[in-house]
Amino acid sequence: MTTAEVRQSFLAALNAVGSMDELERIRVEYVGKKGYVTELLKGMKDLSVEEKKTFGQEVNVLKNEVNEMISAKREEIHQKELEEENNKMPEFDISIPANLKRGSYHPITLVQRQCEEVFKSMGFAVEDYSEIVTDYECFEALNIPKDHPARDMQDTYYLDNGQLLKTHTSAAQNAIYKKYKDALINEGKPIKAIFPGRCFRNEATDACHENTFFQMEGVMVDKNISISNLIFFMKTMLSEVFQKDIKVRLRPGFFPFVEPGFELDISCLICGGEGCPSCKHSGWLELCPCGMIHPEVLKAGGIDPDEYIGFAFGLGLTRLAMMKYGVKDIRDLNSGDLKCLDQFTDDK
Ligand code: PHE
Repeated sequence: MTTAEVRQSFLAALNAVGSMDELERIRVEYVGKKGYVTELLKGMKDLSVEEKKTFGQEVNVLKNEVNEMISAKREEIHQKELEEENNKMPEFDISIPANLKRGSYHPITLVQRQCEEVFKSMGFAVEDYSEIVTDYECFEALNIPKDHPARDMQDTYYLDNGQLLKTHTSAAQNAIYKKYKDALINEGKPIKAIFPGRCFRNEATDACHENTFFQMEGVMVDKNISISNLIFFMKTMLSEVFQKDIKVRLRPGFFPFVEPGFELDISCLICGGEGCPSCKHSGWLELCPCGMIHPEVLKAGGIDPDEYIGFAFGLGLTRLAMMKYGVKDIRDLNSGDLKCLDQFTDDK
């Protein structure tokens, strides 16, 4: 073939190309090692020096042209492919109503917020506290010295650095007393604070036990505080959360950081007090251990126990959520199962 013939046949072939694969085939066919253009160069060896020069130039021009046309074609095919891809995408229609389900609050978040509202309306500050605390905060400052048997009941997760995951929200008490004591002592402002939080205990789990659960601690310190104040605040909170009067009872309970200490039980709302598996057939549920703050605990917080007195409670928020929403298995709350958890938000 002459140069002109090769050019002509190349142009015809290129014209018919529709895909990258075909293009590659033609590239090899013309400018590959055994391609037509390369063959033309090979045929030069029989020509005279003068002829070699002009013919060589001719073939080089052709080779460059072919390469350029292949590049151009490659770009053209690429653009076409992109366009086709774009056309496959569904059109965006701004008028179609969104079919997105709104998120919902976790049942524990819901009761926590309700409790916060009630206590805020009674003048309590809402405090946040870390989940990793020191041994001092969780135990020592709460009158639980090393080797005290009460530590055994709180199966603690210790960290390598000696700190621990807080086993109860009481771990924040010391910091709260220290934060508010100056206003109490200098300005006579009573300490009134609640501090909800996640707690951890290394426990085997079952329908009533979890290794991760929520409590809401509350403290009030002033000059003339009594157990009746404690009962009043607890009853008010419960009747607001449940929107009805709740029967409560106090039993003696032991906690090293309160004296005297109590267990505040509520009449089981799942069986109405008749007795069921949720209340271990007693008709009552332990909801809120509480008591008058131990003098040693006030002292550790920088408050003189001869002058001030207070109460503390540790409301079981997880249990409260279970009662309020009739959740029978505590494990559902940490399950992440949206079918179960997304049914409680009212404004979905
Ligand atoms: N921190 C105690 C617990 O989790 C509960 C508690 C709090 C008891 C406040 C009395 C006063 O076991």
